[in-house]
Amino acid sequence: MASLATQLGPLKLQNPIMTASGTFGYGEEIANFMDISHLGAVVCKTVTRAPRAGNAPPRTCETAAGMLNAIGLQNVGVERFITEKLPYLRQFAVPLIVNIAGETIEDFGLLAQALSQQAGVAALELNISCPNVAHGLDFATDPVLTEQVVAHARAATHLPIIAKLSPNVTDITLIARAAEAGGADAVSLVNTFVGMAVNIHTRRPRLSNISGGLSGPAIKPLALRAVYRCAQVLGIPLIGIGGIMNAQDAIEFFIAGASAVQVGTATFVQPGAALEVIQGLESYMDKYAIASIKELVGSIITT
Ligand SMILES: Cc1cc2nc3c(=O)[nH]c(=O)nc-3n(C[C@H](O)[C@H](O)[C@H](O)COP(=O)(O)O)c2cc1C
Repeated sequence: MASLATQLGPLKLQNPIMTASGTFGYGEEIANFMDISHLGAVVCKTVTRAPRAGNAPPRTCETAAGMLNAIGLQNVGVERFITEKLPYLRQFAVPLIVNIAGETIEDFGLLAQALSQQAGVAALELNISCPNVAHGLDFATDPVLTEQVVAHARAATHLPIIAKLSPNVTDITLIARAAEAGGADAVSLVNTFVGMAVNIHTRRPRLSNISGGLSGPAIKPLALRAVYRCAQVLGIPLIGIGGIMNAQDAIEFFIAGASAVQVGTATFVQPGAALEVIQGLESYMDKYAIASIKELVGSIITT
């Protein structure tokens, strides 16, 4: 059997397939459709210091080959996350990566500190790239702020830190390098692309927030290129995200340089999508006699 084991800095995973933040909630609903313990890791919905109600509906709409969302980081806040959600999530024998977001650099430090004291948290993913809240993109569009926020979180925790970056920038490699310089153990590429849709009958935007984040198959080639470009310049592992619907999509990301991937929008179409990606990846590796996923990572041939 091929080895799917992968490593993100100090974080070891049994396989490279995880859920994408915000598309898996805190696991309770998805557990009805899949055995969560087969995943490489679970990434839960962004947690903030205070509870957030999110934006007014409508907050999602379907687009050609994808969807727009402007949820606005609805979540129960870190205190209730720790008492109400974490006990459920920590029962699975799979690393739990808690995705956190703050309005200030200090918020990230305080969240990192609070979560580091909890059993069952394997790593933190810093959401410095949410397009659907005021100032949500401030950090990930500025290399100086990216480095500062990562360094601040780094100083506040012993846990591995993953910086989740925005594709809504001119040159994502500059931001990825800044995250590495700040001490990130890995970077996640990418969060959603800012977009919008209009109802031609009412002439109103389809989302109450007017704009939202585009995800799904429509963004896959864009996300793949972001991973490929960052793989050329970074010394830390990359997590590929964007439009991964099946094993073939995931394999493209591995070949382009990702050490792991996250499955997001696909879960809304098929709740068990992430597990199907694992099965398809195993079959592909057997077919091509690839002994370890590590042989696949960054194996792209461009000459
Ligand atoms: C409904 C929805 C909610 C999301 N919420 C979050 C979130 O809370 N935090 C975050 O970092 N990313 C969030 N994302 C972004 C996803 O984690 C992922 O980066 C993005 O959707 C691209 O992957 P995909 O094309 O596989 O969905 C959300 C995406 C969707 C569709």
